[in-house]
Amino acid sequence: MLLKCVLPIFTIANAVVWSRSAAHGDSKHNKLNKEPQKMSVQRLSALRAIMSSQPRPLAAYIIPTCDAHNSEYIAPVDARREWISGFTGSAGTAVVTPSAALLWTDGRYYTQFEQEADMSLWTLMKQSLPETPTMEKWLVSNLTEGAAVGVDPYTFSRDEWNPLQSALTKHNMVLVAVGANLVDEARKHCGEHIPCRPSNDIIALPLKFTGKCAGEKIAELRAKMEDKKASALVITALDEVAYVLNLRGSDIEYNPVFFSYLIITPTAVLLFTANELTAALCLQLAEEHVHLQRFPYDSIEEHLRDMAKELSETGCKHSIWLSSDSSEAIHRAASGADVLANPLNIISEVSPVSLMKLTKNDVELQGFRDCHVRDGIAVVRLLKWLHDEVDGGKEVTEIQAADKLLEFRKDEEHFMGPSFSTIPGSGANGAIIHYCPSRDGPQKTIEKEDMFILDSGGQYMDGTTDITRTRHLSRAPTSEQKSAFTRVLQGQIMVGAALFPQGVKGNVLDSFARHALWEAGLDYAHGTGHGVGHFLNVHEGPCGVSWRPYPHDPGLKPGQVLSNEPGYYKVGSFGIRHEDLVETINVTKETEHPRAAGLQGDFDGRGVLGFRTLTLVPHQRECIDASMMSDFQLQYINNYHKRVFDTLGPILKERRLHEEYTWLQGECAPMIRA
Ligand SMILES: *[C@@H]1O[C@H](CO)[C@@H](O)[C@H](O)[C@H]1NC(C)=O
Ligand SMILES: *[C@@H]1O[C@H](CO)[C@@H](O)[C@H](O)[C@H]1NC(C)=O
Repeated sequence: MLLKCVLPIFTIANAVVWSRSAAHGDSKHNKLNKEPQKMSVQRLSALRAIMSSQPRPLAAYIIPTCDAHNSEYIAPVDARREWISGFTGSAGTAVVTPSAALLWTDGRYYTQFEQEADMSLWTLMKQSLPETPTMEKWLVSNLTEGAAVGVDPYTFSRDEWNPLQSALTKHNMVLVAVGANLVDEARKHCGEHIPCRPSNDIIALPLKFTGKCAGEKIAELRAKMEDKKASALVITALDEVAYVLNLRGSDIEYNPVFFSYLIITPTAVLLFTANELTAALCLQLAEEHVHLQRFPYDSIEEHLRDMAKELSETGCKHSIWLSSDSSEAIHRAASGADVLANPLNIISEVSPVSLMKLTKNDVELQGFRDCHVRDGIAVVRLLKWLHDEVDGGKEVTEIQAADKLLEFRKDEEHFMGPSFSTIPGSGANGAIIHYCPSRDGPQKTIEKEDMFILDSGGQYMDGTTDITRTRHLSRAPTSEQKSAFTRVLQGQIMVGAALFPQGVKGNVLDSFARHALWEAGLDYAHGTGHGVGHFLNVHEGPCGVSWRPYPHDPGLKPGQVLSNEPGYYKVGSFGIRHEDLVETINVTKETEHPRAAGLQGDFDGRGVLGFRTLTLVPHQRECIDASMMSDFQLQYINNYHKRVFDTLGPILKERRLHEEYTWLQGECAPMIRA
């Protein structure tokens, strides 16, 4: 699944009817559409009344789409921007002033915003258009000197806070960290129920899946803390807490995490969570040499402040280590900003946990390989089923196809749930990046003459998958479709077979993926690859493959897992995307790699890196124009298909899935140039 917000996607504006984002709660949580106009006025009035009754009345209040952990997906309790605006899309920032209400969002969401928000009250700020002022620019040019701009400091990272604060200061305005979330207050005033913060069961992930005990991870982090002379490391990202403790939860849809903070000091490990820690969990933690002290989730701020006070009383110089993605609220509390005359030093930079989990250990890598075999079986079963249904004249809707795929995945060992909301785009819907069909309205049938994109993934105890395949249901693509399909595939092969010096950043690989498309004046408006967590978030930083370098990308090393997903989208007509997950590997002349034999150097000792594809599902042969492919590319795809069949075939046979076996054999048959 492509990373959102990699680029403003203006080409698809107005092309579509969107449904609500799956990330932000479904219709069960949402009664916005009942009386949208009245609701919105009431809500805005309530917020404005609270803004003006602040000790320092606010000239503007900012409402980002965010939780206190800077999560990509948020729980319904944190969907404040959605509540105030009525707009359910997954990205956007609202600004409310006494007389205006504005919302910045990108091209994916213009149509949806206009449908969902009351346009007599709200102004859409089309973020993707160059003439649209940024929020910062708008604030400094529309507010008067002395204005106070409020924000809940839990919903702003320090990386966002600092530049806005300096811009406002330059114009004699101030950015105010407002203690309580004013949208929550407004919600209470309106007599509306705020959803509870989930605190679902936590599971312990055994060593056979994690490969490294929690105590060892903490010892490594303590060694890094010593190097940095840090007195404490404060971990605020939910996937990082889960990773360090080898625990998983289900508090946010698709993301196996639980609401928590973790503080590591040289002598203690402190967990802040409302979730239950059963005796069995404590036992595993003890076996992994972790003795947790537990605190309520909500006490983090107070605890950090007390810690800052205590440390400052020792008279020594203390530094607290935080990710620069951590919220402004946590940064302030950790430094004792509000309680100390001389706040503690803060080390605010990329989190050492994100760098640690970026490189997967041998057990995690083996888990990734294993779950991709099972996931391949599920996707192959779905594709065969879909062709059979459509060939048999049955009507299959996009949602039915997605549901059927989930059924097949549920048959697989260690399956825990989808890793994101499946994107099943047929025909013109395939050209809508991040398409998400609605269950409420009329549903689209997958037509025989459609190209069909299926982007989906699974969470397994031993790894996370993310795969896109594109099929033509009647197996008779137009020559335009076939040519585009082939160019996208050539890009995927260029990346899949690339060799590059160890330590280069992911962005250097981006144009490899676009090469064949660019030759024809074609392109795609998203990045080429993202990191993937191990039974964690399907989008994982700090690395990625895009034309811009990721700011904290430490450079590619062996043992990373990335997606390789070029695409092509013809708005109003069809879309194509081929997505594999790949692992980074060292390559020498002896490695099993298509370019190993040709190696003449090792980049002057820097070391040669390449990829090994984890995903195991064939590409549709009828959509590949072999005459466009080089010998190398043709051999590459034939070898890949042979590997798919050799791996999945015996499993299908063993499970007595004979028809699937025969189907896969046909799909994986070698291609020759006519
Ligand atoms: C903000 O300022 C711009 C340019 O000065 C102006 O065009 C716009 O109407 C203002 N918006 C509001 C809501 O005052
Ligand atoms: C990969 O190669 C580099 C340098 O050539 C070496 O330092 C490293 O240990 C190797 N890593 C693995 C996982 O083989």
